[in-house]
Amino acid sequence: MGLLKQWFLLILLLGVKVICQDYDNAYETTYPEYDSETELEPRIPPLVVTQPPDYGNPYIPYPQECARECYCPFSYPLAMYCDHRKLKAIPNIPRHIRHLYIQFNDIEAITAEPFVNATSLKEINLGHNSLKSSLVERNAFTNLKDLLLLYLDHNNLEEVPASLPKTLQRLSLGFNRISKLSADAMQGLASLTVLDLCNNRLTDAGIRGKTLSGMKALMQITMCNNKLKSMPSDLPASVLQLSLENNSIASIPDGYFKKTPNLLSLRVSHNKLKAVPYTVFNLSRLMELNLGHNQLSKAFFIPRALEHLYLNHNEFMDLNVTLMCPSLDQSKPNLLTYIRIDNNRLSGPIDYSAYSCFPRIRIIFYGEQKLEKKKTLPPTKKPRLMGDAPINGGDGNVYE
Ligand SMILES: *[C@@H]1O[C@H](CO)[C@@H](O)[C@H](O)[C@H]1NC(C)=O
Ligand SMILES: *[C@@H]1O[C@H](CO)[C@@H](O)[C@H](O)[C@H]1NC(C)=O
Ligand SMILES: *[C@@H]1O[C@H](CO)[C@@H](O)[C@H](O)[C@H]1NC(C)=O
Ligand SMILES: *[C@@H]1O[C@H](CO)[C@@H](O)[C@H](O)[C@H]1NC(C)=O
Repeated sequence: MGLLKQWFLLILLLGVKVICQDYDNAYETTYPEYDSETELEPRIPPLVVTQPPDYGNPYIPYPQECARECYCPFSYPLAMYCDHRKLKAIPNIPRHIRHLYIQFNDIEAITAEPFVNATSLKEINLGHNSLKSSLVERNAFTNLKDLLLLYLDHNNLEEVPASLPKTLQRLSLGFNRISKLSADAMQGLASLTVLDLCNNRLTDAGIRGKTLSGMKALMQITMCNNKLKSMPSDLPASVLQLSLENNSIASIPDGYFKKTPNLLSLRVSHNKLKAVPYTVFNLSRLMELNLGHNQLSKAFFIPRALEHLYLNHNEFMDLNVTLMCPSLDQSKPNLLTYIRIDNNRLSGPIDYSAYSCFPRIRIIFYGEQKLEKKKTLPPTKKPRLMGDAPINGGDGNVYE
């Protein structure tokens, strides 16, 4: 303990904040609780500017026409609200409607018929319905030449609807049963900037071939909670944010990111990575790298722009700073400010050279470390009383 205290003091002198979940200290001191997960999330700038509601031209008297089942507010004449109504079918959409909110219903089918006049549609929210791929008509959306936003999350889709309009900028397909992306459905989406495919059943075989590269404007792609065993191939060069949390990815090929040199944020936590090629993350703009909850044990090269690094819940026994930062360039310092390394197998303090290699470092979240492999635990554990502060999870103490 004495050693740890000294180490803390050293860090205090250096003005670095170290967050530690240390039992003894937690009982002795009254530092405020710190919610690591939420408060320390890096702020990657939003990639898509959300437009203010579009009220149309105030000098045009929009028709009062509205589907019988829905509500068209007088103050927002271009929108039709049909959500939470137990609807089984999409009603006919009047010609002037630009925003259709029809989420939370029991709709299974999409046919072209209700949309024949609705050529002004810019946004459709069909999330939280019961859409089935076999009941989505092939040309259902082809007529919609201005469509920008399409939400189809929380349905029972098994594939991406074919013939989506080329104008589409944002497509949400999370929480469906999609196992395969067809090149046919994806390649034409040249304006798409945000694609959400989290919580589906995507496999490596399901995204093989030229499926993604046609989306030349794609900036954010999320495929969390799927069944991928390797990194998706064929990403377009435009990608800035790639999220692959909670798959079964076991490796990252050397040079993998050569195709996506502009990447700002990469999240591959909750996967099966045991090792990564030494310079694989050498990307000039990478700011956030989350590799938590893997089985990594060997340090890798830290690119200069990286600000937030998550290595928590891995197998590191030490953190070799010489490997992370092989050379020092005072004129171009590393920008790392935050590193999370709790729940590894670290035993000693962080190498002192970390502070010269990473002069901007503000927080080292050292936290608790894993116990040595199955040490002699007492056969029966004392039951923990409710009042006994359980010191695990994200909260800890801040030493400033
Ligand atoms: C389309 O508009 C025409 C003419 O206004 C109307 O007769 C027809 O019922 C509309 N169809 C649908 C599906 O909205
Ligand atoms: C990981 O994904 C599976 C489904 O593929 C889900 O059941 C599980 O809750 C997810 N785990 C985490 C930690 O998100
Ligand atoms: C990282 O990339 C830069 C620019 O491409 C290059 O100059 C540098 O040598 C690379 N560093 C390592 C350690 O590979
Ligand atoms: C860090 O790694 C280098 C290269 O593998 C090795 O030579 C050095 O001894 C390591 N340093 C520590 C402190 O383990």
